[in-house]
Amino acid sequence: MSEPALADDMTASRARPQPAASGCELTVVAPTFNERANVARLVEKLDAALDGVGWELIVVDDDSPDGTAAAVKDIAAVDRRVRCLRRVGRRGLAGAVIEGALASASPFVAVIDADMQHDETLLPQMLNTLRGGDVDLVVGSRYLEAAGLEKGLSPIRKLGSQAATALARKALKAEVSDPVSGFFMIRRECVDRVAAKLQPSGFKILFDIIASQDQPLRVRELPYAFQAREAGESKMGGRVALEYLGLVLAKLSGDLISPRMVFFGLVGASGLVVHMVALWAVQAALPFAWAQGLAAVTAMTSNYVVNNLVTYRDRRLKGWRLLTGYLRFCLLCSVGLAANVAVGAELHAHGVAWPLAGLAGAACGAVWNYVSTYLGVW
Ligand code: GDD
Ligand code: MN
Repeated sequence: MSEPALADDMTASRARPQPAASGCELTVVAPTFNERANVARLVEKLDAALDGVGWELIVVDDDSPDGTAAAVKDIAAVDRRVRCLRRVGRRGLAGAVIEGALASASPFVAVIDADMQHDETLLPQMLNTLRGGDVDLVVGSRYLEAAGLEKGLSPIRKLGSQAATALARKALKAEVSDPVSGFFMIRRECVDRVAAKLQPSGFKILFDIIASQDQPLRVRELPYAFQAREAGESKMGGRVALEYLGLVLAKLSGDLISPRMVFFGLVGASGLVVHMVALWAVQAALPFAWAQGLAAVTAMTSNYVVNNLVTYRDRRLKGWRLLTGYLRFCLLCSVGLAANVAVGAELHAHGVAWPLAGLAGAACGAVWNYVSTYLGVW
């Protein structure tokens, strides 16, 4: 008889609404890749900083080879405020942050790096700002204090970060001094409602969250000093910077073009350079038509390889499919070339000035190449 009684008891306790104070007010999301040496210290620091607050930590780990997930689960086994979301077969800081935030049921979500470069003692002040109700987003900004960037970044990173920030401010048309910050706290509903629009790759999740809103967010910024890493190494690199550029250009166009189209266009432009270099190299040795054809095939091959590596890195073709994909790519792009010439010639025949006719033809060819290879190759 004791078993049904227990079951009744559990149902009752599940249905009974819990007082708000015992619930979790703040979910801290920490994305990790190879941060095993840092996670225990992070929990200690949060514990000290968030004394008196109902908080939880969700560490979103992309199956780090150093065993970060196991280290977090060891902590979670004795501290129920800590959870680990282990993602397998996927990479991406932004996607990790999105999934962590979507796993939260708290009214407020904070995002913080796991490497202690952010100042966790700012969290209570961020929380108080949001509790007031007239702010949606609090950003930890490295640019409000002269010392903000001193310790954490190399001179080249500092320059890159400033350029990225300037570009982002333009795209956002918003007064956020550090829109690429990885340290912020936000009302959870503001992430929930734009979740489907966010890009899971790259680093610039904050920028994306701000840019994807229909109603502008009410933003407050708090200064902090970016610290040097305590252990492990940064995952920021050329690819992350490139992805960011694509995202900003897409947002500048009002989402008319996707980051993938931006890359495809940039690769196409690089193909033009390859074409000219190849032509220059062989034109003395071959009749012009042959040299031009050879240059075109070289450029097409380089476009294919680079698009496969960069534009379509998430669907990269390998092995046998790399070859069949190449043949399809060449075929489709030849059709694009024919369309390009036909449209340009037709417009020119109807009295359109040559630069405009040439541009219109090239644009048609480029759009055809993009759409057809998107559907037919990758
Ligand atoms: N899950 C997951 N997946 N986490 C990742 C990934 C990934 O692919 N890449 C990086 N992380 C985690 C790191 O483990 C760390 O906790 C945090 O994300 C930040 O990564 P870092 O590699 O330490 O970045 P950083 O310090 O060079 O860059 C800082 O400045 C950028 C702006 O310039 C960070 O604060 C970024 O968030 C910020 O955008
Ligand atoms: Mn870092």
